[in-house]
Amino acid sequence: MSRTPLIAGNWKMHKTGPEAVDSAKRLAQLSEGVADVDIMIAPTSLALPLVSQAVAGTQVRVGAQNLYFEKQGAFTGEVSGDMIRAAGAEYVLIGHSERRQFFGDTDALVCRKTRAALDAGLIPVVCIGETEKERDEEKTFFVLDKQVSDGLKGFGLEEIRTLVLAYEPVWAIGTGKTASVEQVEEVHRFLRKTLEEKFSGALAKETRILYGGSVKPDNVKDLMSIEDVDGALVGGASLDADKFINIIRYQ
Ligand code: 13P
Repeated sequence: MSRTPLIAGNWKMHKTGPEAVDSAKRLAQLSEGVADVDIMIAPTSLALPLVSQAVAGTQVRVGAQNLYFEKQGAFTGEVSGDMIRAAGAEYVLIGHSERRQFFGDTDALVCRKTRAALDAGLIPVVCIGETEKERDEEKTFFVLDKQVSDGLKGFGLEEIRTLVLAYEPVWAIGTGKTASVEQVEEVHRFLRKTLEEKFSGALAKETRILYGGSVKPDNVKDLMSIEDVDGALVGGASLDADKFINIIRYQ
């Protein structure tokens, strides 16, 4: 069993197409020679074709930040998995807490989007995480269990192995408050066990589980040293390639 770490940058609603291309090219240059780490950036969907072309043949892979589960049709403003794949992306973020909070993404929607992503040949990065209130009320594990059970309902073993799970405690996103090593360790161990129980033990061991929430060059090493942490999903600190590379080269 081996899980290649994945360091992913979620650029959220930052950077125009040309700005995204510049940053992506710089990152590709800086990451030359990086071994044993998968690198992914998720720019605005408008920039996917440009960025994919700009990093073709380099270490950098590209992902979208969202998709709609239908293949095509009268769904104004939405983007399908096939469209994302055709734009050159290989990954797609699903169920990010900002989507859950501002755009009504539910676990049921996450499940349909994950199915659509897999059908389109994309690697879904399924995001889960508790709010501050839920943690304070000691509901963290209940919430995470529900997000995994409902969000990944009906998936087969191979599919679970392909997808990536990202634990992003909502209270740690963009706040500068990173979860402690103990908190991350506890949750990731719980998530691995949950996957093993709900799916197959052996295969669930191959699913990558990322941590996200105020990951920075100075805390990435500690986070990556945790056994069940297989990478990071980085927001703010991924916007500047010269900073992001220090997270990618954490070893
Ligand atoms: P920050 O790294 O800015 O806290 O954002 C985390 C995140 O939401 C990545 O998806």
